[in-house]
Amino acid sequence: MEKIRDAFEHIISKGSWLIKETSWERNDQEVRESQFTLGNGYLCSRGVLEEIPYDAHPGTYMAGLYDEAGSQVTEIVNLPNPINFKLIAQGEKVGVIAMDTISHNRVLDMQKGILKRRTVYATTNKERFDYQSLRFFSMANPHIGAMQIHFTPLDADADIIVETFTDTSMTNKGILSEGRKRHFEVNKFINVKNIDYVCVRTFQRKIGVGYANHLTVTNEGKSYGTSEKILRLYIKKGETATFTKIFTIHSTRDLGFRGRLERRGVASCAKAVKKGFERLLEEHIEAWRRKWDISDIDIRPDVNLQAALRFNIYHMIICSPPDSRSSVPARTLSGEGYRGHIFWDTEIFMLPFYIFTNPETAKRLLLYRYKTLPAARRNARERGYKGALFSWESADTGKEVTPEWHRDLDGKVIRIYTGKMENHIVADIAYAVNNYFIVTADEEFMLEAGLEIIFECARFWASRVEYNKNRDVYSIKNIIGPDEFHINVSDNAFTNVMARWNLVRAVQLCRNYQARDMRRFKKLVKRIKLRESEIENWARVSNRIPIRVDRNGIIECFNGFFKRKYMPIRELDHNFMPTLPKKISPRQLKTTQFVKQADTVMIFHLLPDSYPLSQRRKNFDYYDKRTLHKSSLSPSMCALTGWDAGSFDKAYHYFLFSLYGDIENKHGSTDGGIHAASLGGNWQMVFHAFAGIRIKGGVLTINPSLPREVNAIYLNIKFRKWVLGITVSKNKVKILPSSKDEPALRINIFGKSRGLRNGKVSVFESK
Ligand code: BGC
Repeated sequence: MEKIRDAFEHIISKGSWLIKETSWERNDQEVRESQFTLGNGYLCSRGVLEEIPYDAHPGTYMAGLYDEAGSQVTEIVNLPNPINFKLIAQGEKVGVIAMDTISHNRVLDMQKGILKRRTVYATTNKERFDYQSLRFFSMANPHIGAMQIHFTPLDADADIIVETFTDTSMTNKGILSEGRKRHFEVNKFINVKNIDYVCVRTFQRKIGVGYANHLTVTNEGKSYGTSEKILRLYIKKGETATFTKIFTIHSTRDLGFRGRLERRGVASCAKAVKKGFERLLEEHIEAWRRKWDISDIDIRPDVNLQAALRFNIYHMIICSPPDSRSSVPARTLSGEGYRGHIFWDTEIFMLPFYIFTNPETAKRLLLYRYKTLPAARRNARERGYKGALFSWESADTGKEVTPEWHRDLDGKVIRIYTGKMENHIVADIAYAVNNYFIVTADEEFMLEAGLEIIFECARFWASRVEYNKNRDVYSIKNIIGPDEFHINVSDNAFTNVMARWNLVRAVQLCRNYQARDMRRFKKLVKRIKLRESEIENWARVSNRIPIRVDRNGIIECFNGFFKRKYMPIRELDHNFMPTLPKKISPRQLKTTQFVKQADTVMIFHLLPDSYPLSQRRKNFDYYDKRTLHKSSLSPSMCALTGWDAGSFDKAYHYFLFSLYGDIENKHGSTDGGIHAASLGGNWQMVFHAFAGIRIKGGVLTINPSLPREVNAIYLNIKFRKWVLGITVSKNKVKILPSSKDEPALRINIFGKSRGLRNGKVSVFESK
């Protein structure tokens, strides 16, 4: 190693752009694979070691590519693995398990979206080898991936065998008792001009995915392309052999029909090979630079905090889908947790990040919901309701795919009812549409899809409520709120508040558009058969959805919650987070006031102006004593509501726990993929709470509240036709607004209305 240079060091970024692995720990293998996932939205590939050690779980997932064959419900397909490179040197397998690993390190360069590795091995005869690799999935052309490996025998000439091909033996990890399962068959294997082409087809959806793969070998000053899957070569001591693998991946979902798949795959691979590894890498890095220009948040001075924040943003960038045929799965595209299903995690937790940095992506995510409206309407109809009942768990078609069975916190298999009862997702989606609209003012989207979603959701609530004559209220019964410990309850406050908001907003929007007398709006009203009496009914129902509040202003989580048993949280784990009380089993939790995750308090984050500060504080304190945070969604939301309520230390503690959640595997489940919602929740904490950026009454407001640990935050945001460069420090806000069309913008800073001029830096200080 002494004399062998690090072939890729000059490419790698510095400091807080990197996440490092400095040794190989077998137990952490799958966690690292999730963390080191590479991707470009079109597909993601887990950060496996190229030799695929025993117990590794290579994962290649394409946005929206699901299949149903052989599993309880539709699931994301684990496709063939293109990152597969096996070496045998002097008769011994080169790899972290088979050989002595003298040193090993990997670096995920988040700025450039690349994974670099260097490992030094020794054989049983103490002959050492230097192994270096670098790979990326192009952000410039999402169909292209590339990997380069440098291999140097350090002590003696080496006889090596290389085995590399697209590994089609991949399976999905079975959940519960399903066992491992493959979702595709191989239906073509050909070789054209040194390009190895493999096509697989999913069993049930019949989607074809084609891999074209080319290998260039450089040894003893000679370079040659080959499509051999197994080759043998001799490498002189101290000499480096280089292997460059360039591959392309296409699917019939993009191209329409199979014949073109093969032609396209082979032609694009040949073109990429011609361009060469270095040029492809340059283009990829440049595309990443453009992504970060708008998405990065520069937070000072703690470099660890900075790196952790970038890790959260990085994962949101790589899983943002390229079109509106899919959305972000609960574990992104980095693992098979929750079978790749799509939940409210996207709309409530992640969407704000996309809205403010990449509104095109935000729009695509909402259009995905629009495309699944027919399925949502069917769901509602089948259960005797009107309007749209969006599925609690959704995949490619929007059909309800929540499984019937799951493992509980103690490992016992239990029946699950969320698919039937966790209906708040309907209002969450309507809320997200509105959120997108107030930031972007994208009227076209509203007329095309947004209004229809909000109206169909309102329709659902108006039919979902049950009238109680005695109390003259409309209750929502047989419901599950975000707190999934209590199933089949009545009037979950979060659900009721959101349903009420949905109805009120639908009425407002109807009235606004009616007043404008727009032809397109009238057409929509006609198409969805929206009658005046229905709108009036929405207004009537919304006024009578009950929210129970006690004498002290505490909102009752659901009807009867106050009567459940209160048990103080006595024990904290090593992360200082509550542990499940030993005395009671998970099934008994429903008899207590323990809540699984942020539930009632989320109301204050989503509708911040609806309740006075004193009430928000009391509720935060009350529910904080009862929240067990048994979902990764919980800490970031409690951080947001706690910060707002002035519980700064507690909120900061939840924030840090959540921010480092996947970097340190704090939830213990990062092996199954990165927790999407918490990525978004953490971003919101920095954006809404620390930088203090929110929209109030249609106006952008900035009211920073930096923690002790942070001196300054610098970020760019998109707001309507503007890009705003914002620097926030303790008592100061500096803004550089730019717009192609607008001369001036009015916003609210430190509670005062301020005018900004295009291209002119303005600085505001709080008194
Ligand atoms: C949480 C849900 C969440 C789902 C997927 C569950 O454990 O309770 O709120 O949507 O995980 O992340």
